[in-house]
Amino acid sequence: MSDFEKFKDELKNKLIKAKDSKELDVIRSEIFSKNGLINSEFKKLGSLSPEEKKKVASKINTAKQELTTLLNEKVSNLQSNEIDERVKKEKNDVTLPEKDFKIGKIHPVSQVIDEISSIFSEIGFSVEEGPDVESEYYNFTALNTPENHPAKDMHDTFYIEENMKTLLRTHTSPVQVRTMLKGKPPFKIVAPGRTYRSDSDQTHTPMFHQLEGLHIDKNITMGHLKGCLNYFIKEFFELDQIKMRFRPSHFPFTEPSAEVDIGYRIENNKIIIGEGDKWLEILGCGMVHPNVLKNSKVDPNKYQGFAFGIGIDRLAMLKYGINDLRSFFECDYRWLNYYGFDPLDVPTNYRGLSK
Ligand code: PHE
Repeated sequence: MSDFEKFKDELKNKLIKAKDSKELDVIRSEIFSKNGLINSEFKKLGSLSPEEKKKVASKINTAKQELTTLLNEKVSNLQSNEIDERVKKEKNDVTLPEKDFKIGKIHPVSQVIDEISSIFSEIGFSVEEGPDVESEYYNFTALNTPENHPAKDMHDTFYIEENMKTLLRTHTSPVQVRTMLKGKPPFKIVAPGRTYRSDSDQTHTPMFHQLEGLHIDKNITMGHLKGCLNYFIKEFFELDQIKMRFRPSHFPFTEPSAEVDIGYRIENNKIIIGEGDKWLEILGCGMVHPNVLKNSKVDPNKYQGFAFGIGIDRLAMLKYGINDLRSFFECDYRWLNYYGFDPLDVPTNYRGLSK
């Protein structure tokens, strides 16, 4: 028997005995690689006479065929064996119930957004949304914010483009303009969402949440604003009586403008909301500036109304006694398990907001 025949039989045996795809890879290269059996044999043909060349070449080709067929069979056998092995090991009965069932929790921020939306929907506000990545026009210009306003500073605002035309919205107020441009008055909406400012300490995070409110109609006054916010705060803190005050303030997009504080006191290291002689700021508000109405294609001689912007995270901290805002966004499962809410317990005014 020639060396070639011997080597071929050896390889055939190896193929038959191969136990896994790694072994097959090695044998495959011994047969078919550049210096493997078949190519080395073809290389030798050059020195033979034409007659012999024909004979030997046909022998090599037959061997090549044989080995290829054997290899392919082996590959498919091994593959199905490997699958059978895996299936044997994975003895999972998918019909059994979950052994280690963990109930997810609703984040306090999501809970508070649901609570606030529910409170406002009770008095006819619908929910709107706007984009986080906003244009400089909707975030500032349309809201009557002058070119040199401190909020536009690079230190406070995250700009996305160098030409300062696109940014992460610094408040939810651009949704006021977007909503008014989309429809016709009257408007009565709230718009919760993420907002961004370059700030970080115990009560500030670069991303935080606000809820914008807007009510535009004929003959809406500051009295309506006060009544609306008073109702909201009492409902939110689930109290019959709450101390609150309007403090004059300034926003370019409202005139007059105010900030709202609620009264509180500290008792045994705990914060008691609604009474006491300390004040805590929770929102900004005012009567929508005529320029904002004009920019939103609403006639300020016919329509007017109020807007407010509530800091959602701060309300969540107050209501649920969480004292570091940064912990909200650390994604610590233990924290969420402790402060989170039952996903099936959707807040409504009828069933109770948080109880
Ligand atoms: N957008 C203001 C802020 O982020 C809050 C606000 C909203 C004030 C609506 C007045 C009217 O501080």
